[in-house]
Amino acid sequence: MGRKTVLKNFRIIDEGVNILGSVIAEDGIIRDVIPGPGGYSEDSGDLLSDRRIVRHIQNADMVIDGGEGTDKWGLTLLPALVDLHAHFRDPGFPEKETLESASLAAAAGGYGTVVCMANTHPVLDTREAVISLRARADALDLIDLFPAMALSRGMEGKELSGIVKLPVAGAGGVVRILSEDGKDLANSALFTAALEEARRAGVVVSVHAELGSIESQAARKSGKARAVWSRMEEINGVRRAIELGKKTGCHIHIAHVSTLEAAEMIRAAKAERGGAAGGFVLSAEVTPHHLFLSEEDAAELGSETHGLVNPPLRSALDRQALIAAVLDGTIDAIATDHAPHTRSDKEGGAAGFTGFETAFSICLTELVREDRLSLPRLASLMSGAPARILGLADRGRIVPGCRADFFVVDASANWTVDPALFRSRGKNSPCTGRELRGRVLMTIRQGRPVFVSPGF
Ligand code: DOR
Repeated sequence: MGRKTVLKNFRIIDEGVNILGSVIAEDGIIRDVIPGPGGYSEDSGDLLSDRRIVRHIQNADMVIDGGEGTDKWGLTLLPALVDLHAHFRDPGFPEKETLESASLAAAAGGYGTVVCMANTHPVLDTREAVISLRARADALDLIDLFPAMALSRGMEGKELSGIVKLPVAGAGGVVRILSEDGKDLANSALFTAALEEARRAGVVVSVHAELGSIESQAARKSGKARAVWSRMEEINGVRRAIELGKKTGCHIHIAHVSTLEAAEMIRAAKAERGGAAGGFVLSAEVTPHHLFLSEEDAAELGSETHGLVNPPLRSALDRQALIAAVLDGTIDAIATDHAPHTRSDKEGGAAGFTGFETAFSICLTELVREDRLSLPRLASLMSGAPARILGLADRGRIVPGCRADFFVVDASANWTVDPALFRSRGKNSPCTGRELRGRVLMTIRQGRPVFVSPGF
């Protein structure tokens, strides 16, 4: 018999489950989910639970009890989070982050599966580079890493990368996302060729939509604020990605949507697709920071330094439009865009925010506590849906047969963000000093704890 972990007395939440109960994991897989409290009544000594739990506890290697929380939810068990968009800076930028510090930070944030972007040094533009980074991540045994592969060689936008050699369904399942990340492929012919390769190999292209036009270039040249030209670039980029997605039939995933107009275009394209237009798949993600913060916060942090992120924090109207797009299903997933930088790089104008260790709490604070969204819907946006986008049917749910990847949250705990305590080397949080709700206490990978919060 294999290694057994019993997680008892939890509020168990995933996109389709919301019960009080226990989970039995064996050999890294969920064997059973049993409703009802696990154990005996302290007063009467009566058996409160299904007898199966008692049997499982007797021969378990590890029992984790969630019944000690004080809030109405007690402690909550959710499927480990799945992040479609993060920057690990490895290889090449150890002063910002390493594979190990990023993996520890991801685990500390409740993440079990992460896609890291290809803008490393050297760029991840061959299958071998992707497989080698994945092998290093596997050796750490903290998270499941799916490195994205760049669309063009060296991300120079001149010729296609190793995607031309990508076998169907991608390098033994490791290559699941292709992305040029921080810049769109400006050359539409090359972009179309990349989408055709992706479609042939059956992998998703994550598009950082940012395409110059005569207007945006003129606005940029004339010294107009970033908010003006970058807005046009996002709109152009999303429009072109949708057009080329329809033309090639490739699965297009729009990364970090930030404007009202982009959300509206995605909504319209999905409605049209409801009529089965062309059979192409369109999905989209938003970051926690674009849901939580706006340009006023960026100005306070320093618009061209500590508040700088790409795409920029937008207006209050955009922020509300993004929340509406999350609520009505236009946006499929929430992804961190974890982008660690050193303090001096931020002061020199590096764009991006560290994100793993605040992402879930930001979403809980902004979306769930405000009662706009249920916790199961949040689990769908951060676990179930991104797992589906990656084509990973074995995770993102708490049902028998899925991987035993979970995280434990005290959903009633408030905490103040102090980047000095982050596992990430990137301390560049836009939420420093803010109070958030929902503390990640433990992250479990295939039945084994890989992160335990001090004091839990
Ligand atoms: O703010 C950002 N930072 N946006 C990106 O697209 C890239 C990222 C980075 O690599 O720092």
